[in-house]
This record gives sequence, structure tokens and C-alpha cells, in this order.
Amino acid sequence: MKDPAREIERLREELRRHEHLYYVLDQPEIADADYDALMRRLQELEAAHPDLASPDSPTQRVSGKPREGFVKVLHSSPMLSLDNALTDTELREFDRRVRDLLGGEEYRYVTELKMDGLSMAALYRDGSFRQAITRGDGTTGEEVTENARTIRSLPLRVKTKLPVFETRGETVLNRRAFERLNAERDEKGLARFANPRNAAAGSLRMLEPQVTASRRLDYYTYFLLADGQPIYDSHWASLDELARMGFKVNPERKVCANIDEVLAFCEHWGARREELPYEIDGVVVKVDSIPQQRALGFTAKAPRWAIAYKYAARQAVTTVESIGVNVGRTGALTPVAFLKPVQVSGVTVSRATLHNEDEIERLGLQSGDDVVIERSGDVIPKVVRVEKQGAHRTPFHMPAACPICGGHVVREEGEAARRCINVNCPARLKESVLHFASRHVMNIDGMGDALVDQLVDRGMVKSVADLYHLTVEQLVSLERMGEKSATNVVRNIENSKRSPLPRVLNALGIRFVGERTAVFLAEYFGSMEAIESAALEQLQQAEEVGPRIAESIFQFFREPRNRELVDRLRAAGLQFTHATTRPKAGPLAGYTLVLTGTLPTLSRDEAKQLIESAGGKVSSAVSKKTSYLVAGEEAGSKLLKAQELGVKILSEEQLRKMAGATEPPGIGEVPAPKG
Ligand code: IVH
Repeated sequence: MKDPAREIERLREELRRHEHLYYVLDQPEIADADYDALMRRLQELEAAHPDLASPDSPTQRVSGKPREGFVKVLHSSPMLSLDNALTDTELREFDRRVRDLLGGEEYRYVTELKMDGLSMAALYRDGSFRQAITRGDGTTGEEVTENARTIRSLPLRVKTKLPVFETRGETVLNRRAFERLNAERDEKGLARFANPRNAAAGSLRMLEPQVTASRRLDYYTYFLLADGQPIYDSHWASLDELARMGFKVNPERKVCANIDEVLAFCEHWGARREELPYEIDGVVVKVDSIPQQRALGFTAKAPRWAIAYKYAARQAVTTVESIGVNVGRTGALTPVAFLKPVQVSGVTVSRATLHNEDEIERLGLQSGDDVVIERSGDVIPKVVRVEKQGAHRTPFHMPAACPICGGHVVREEGEAARRCINVNCPARLKESVLHFASRHVMNIDGMGDALVDQLVDRGMVKSVADLYHLTVEQLVSLERMGEKSATNVVRNIENSKRSPLPRVLNALGIRFVGERTAVFLAEYFGSMEAIESAALEQLQQAEEVGPRIAESIFQFFREPRNRELVDRLRAAGLQFTHATTRPKAGPLAGYTLVLTGTLPTLSRDEAKQLIESAGGKVSSAVSKKTSYLVAGEEAGSKLLKAQELGVKILSEEQLRKMAGATEPPGIGEVPAPKG
């Protein structure tokens, strides 16, 4: 397309559509990589045509500007809170008041899930997102526009005839994003967030929008207002309109003809709340008709036309009888509180996770204390806080050796957890075997959970190396193993010996060494022996191996049990050497090239293939290490960056020549490799 303005608009439309499909409807149509490619193309075009920039472009979600603090802004109408109904009786009392006040009129309710997050107003003018304000004290809130912009389910541009409107809704962090955030904080040695709501509130109020962006917040809307007042005559209709405009509206909503239907909705979700991907703490019940809402009006702090039906807290108080340690499948030592058994929402709880030693310190917990515990989701109950210190309390210390195998325990710098690094530790063994056999690793078909459990439990496999000594006779003795499947498994194990070195490296389960790093290691060192005996500094010579990964590899090979495992795998006949796939020789050997813009005849993939077959490497970003930028038509920011750094620019024709595709490169034309 020749007209950049048109192509930019087309790309923005396309990206908005995919954002909506992915973040709002949860029904993506294209792969992430394709989305990224569209986004990159738009970024390049916008960089090349700064006059066409627009704040509601999908590229503008994350601004680089940190801020000093937050400005207070007045809401268009107060953001009130709701009265609570804690029992069915209280809910029926609310219904009675509504009926009396409406004096015999017919009415109906809309029920919505009460998501546990932070309420926020989002203001739009001429279809573009302009401003976001937290609830604050209800009258004034904090302006958090730049942070809200990073929320992918909040549309930056909507199709509407309304010149000015406002949405109100809930900013939430779903369970997965919350778990991930806390796991990251564990790794960094930072305190965990107590619940998704605190995490969402903290994330929305970050001074750097990049940090908010990394938190993956969601925004669900439940009000559509103009001048602070509802636009439609029915709340239900406004929810539908919000969804049509592209906002995320919780699909679990219902029109209820009477209070019995409302109670059934509450009961239904009360029993299923743990299945939801986000936390809810109740159900919000609203009178549907806006004229009726107006007639009912407000008390000093809450509307008379709505109420929050709250679910019972899933907390209880009990005593910590002792603190023990559990060794997880990744070798992480997790302290566990053994509790005096207590009922929490219908389930007897006798243990709770303490996550790690920092968490114990944060809680100020010792064995013998009374604690508040909480059940949330399917996760193991956790200790929320110390309620009362015990009369005879004993402090807890993490063991220096693995309580299961007595192996070495390490706590890496910046990590919250101690880990047993013996791969043959029984607690880790099953996981190691499953990882070893998985498709992307040694690809041993038939080696699933059921088989691995039996092999480990019966002591037939004490190390992954034992797999290579299993016989058909041994396997048929197991449950659910016929002659035929046993033969297949043994054959698949045998075939796995042909897996190339990168897979073998990945199979060892060295922390931080996955598929990608394993390839770089194999390519740089060429053999297991070279990696085993490499010094720390040498390990860092391999691509993408930094100090942390190098340390992990180095430590792995210092553990005698791991060395023994490697020796046994070598003896079994696994591939311990690596012929690099990338030709060392070739006219482009040692060069790193970056592609940008549209080339006259080659597609991106074809150009990449050409470069790689000539021994060169293709990288996605221009840096000081880039040898050449291959630029086509409408090259954008990469071209500017390359010019800035003095990186040589090639046309497709020049690339072909250098790669020897048409004729070999002339001597002296090729500069010395960089870096
Ligand atoms: S309506 C005046 N609807 O619950 C009406 N609130 O206790 C106020 N919330 O501050 C809110 N889901 O943070 C409403 N579907 C929903 C909600 C909801 C969650 C939160 C919101 C509000 C609090 C009210």
C-alpha cells in the first residue's frame, strides 16, 4: 500500500479488532507472533511518519514517562459504594424495601458478579479514551490515565455516536496474573501481595506505566454514563451497549424477575466461585429500570436501588502446631504450617503453605501461634496473619540440607526459595522423568504420569538414567501395561538415544536452561564434556548466557550426583557431541543481519533463509552488534537506528550478492565481522 496514512489506519483497525478478540472476548483469531508482526509494522510506519501519530493508536498503550505523583480529580457524579446483605434474610429485606418504595409497580433486577478489584471511571470524548480516575473517596479520585491506557481490555477507541461518555467499572487482576506476579516477587525476594485486589490497587497506582503494563490488569465495565447520569432507561440495555462498543462486560449477568431468582443466582455462583478465573466476593443486585432507580434514590452513602450480597469469608482462626518443610517437584523447599484441624467453609484444613522463609518473617510467625488462615481458589490454604502469639512459641529455621535426600540446598541470590539441587531426590524425580520424556525434550512416547508414578514408587527408576535399562519384562509387571505397550515404550526409549545434544542438555533439567539456551550452549561448546568442564567465565561466552544462568550450570556440574547421572547417560549412548547446524563457513559467517521494510522480491522468511544458509545470523533488533541492516521499501525506525549507529545498509540485491546467491562476493567488499 502506497498511502502511509491509509495503511496506518488499516493497521490500527486490524490491531484493535485483534485486541478486542483476544483481551475482551478471549477468542483470538491469529497467533501472538502475527499480532506482534502487525504491531511492529505499525510502529515502524508511525516512526517514519511522526505527523500521523495519535494517542489512541494501539502502539500508545505504554508511555515512557514516569510521573511524580497523582493529581486529584473530581468525579462527574459521586462514585458511591453499596450496602451489604450478608444473609438471604437481609437480601429479602432489601427486596421488601424496594417493593414498598415502588408502591406496587412491577420491577425486575439485574444480577452481576461482584468482582474483587478497584473501581475506576474511564472518560471518552469523540470515541477516544481520554482520562481514567480511581474511585478515591467517591467524590474525588486520582487521575491514572497513563496507567489505565496499558490495560488491554480497555479500548482506546470505540465506535459510538456519543460525543462524551464515561464508563465505570472494576479493575482486576485475574488469578493467573496474580499467581505469576507473586511468583516473580518471590524470585526477586520481594514481599508477596496478600490478594489480587491489593495487587490490582498497587499496580494501578504505579508511577511508571511500564510497571503497570507488566501486571496485566483487566477492566470490566458496569456503568455507562453521560454527565454522570445513566443514558439508557434500563441498566441491562446499557450493559449490552457497553459490550457492543467493545468494552469487557462480565458475561455472567442475568435479568431476574424476582428475589427468588436473585437468590438462586447468588447460590449458583457461591458454589462455583472458585472455578472463575478471577476472584469475586459476592453478587451485585440492581433494580433494572433507571426511572425506578431515580424514584428509589440514595441514602447518604449508597443507592437504595442496589445491594451487594456478600459471600462468607473463607477464613478461620487456629493454632500452628508445628512447622515443617515440603520438597516440591522443582526441588523448592516450602515451609508448611501443620495446624490444629479446623473447618473452613465446609472443609477440614490441617495444613497451610507458608511459601518461603521471608514470608514467615513477614508474618512474624512461630510454631505455637494462633493464626488466621484463608482458603481461596483451589490453592492450598494460606496463613493470612498471626492472631495471637503462643505462650510457648518456637522459631523456625530452614534446614541446611534437603529433608528428603540430605542433598545440597542452595538459595540463589535474589531468590526467595531454597532448592535441593540433587536431580535424583525422590521428591523431584517424577517431575524430572516427565520432563526428560516430554515431547520437546527426549520425546519418549508412552512415558506418562501413570507409568512414571509406578516406576518411581516401585524403585525401578531412581534416576532418569535408569530408563535406559528398563526391559519389556519389567514393564509388563506393571499395572495397565500390556506386552505391546511395554515393547513400544522400550523401543521409544531406545530411539530417544538419537536425540541431539541440545535436547539432552534440556533434558537434564538444569535451572534456567531450556530449549533455547540449550541450543546456544551446544552450538558454542560443541560437546557435553566442554560444557561440564567450562569455567564460569567461559560459560558466559555462549549466546544469551548471563551470570545467573552460568552460575546455575556451573553449580549443576559441581554436584557429584549430577556428574554421575551425566556419566551414566554417556555410557547409555546418548548424543554428547553436536555438529552445529549453522554452517561455520559461508560468506556471511560471523555476521548478524537485521531485516526491515518490504524487499522487492524476497519475503521475510526467504531473506532469513538466504542469510542463514550463507552462515549469517538474523536478529530482530538493531544494535551495536548488528553487521548489516537489510532495508526494503518503507523501512521505519530500524533504519533510523541503524543510521544513528553507523550500521551499513544493504539492499536486497547487495544481500544476494554477499550471500553468493547470484555471484560470490568480491574480495575486500566484505568488512570484518563486528563484536
Ligand atoms: S455497582 C453505586 N457493580 O463493589 C453503585 N460494583 O461495594 C456502586 N463492584 O465500589 C457499584 N463489581 O468496586 C457495582 N458489578 C458491579 C461490581 C461492583 C464489583 C465493586 C465496586 C464498588 C463495590 C461496591
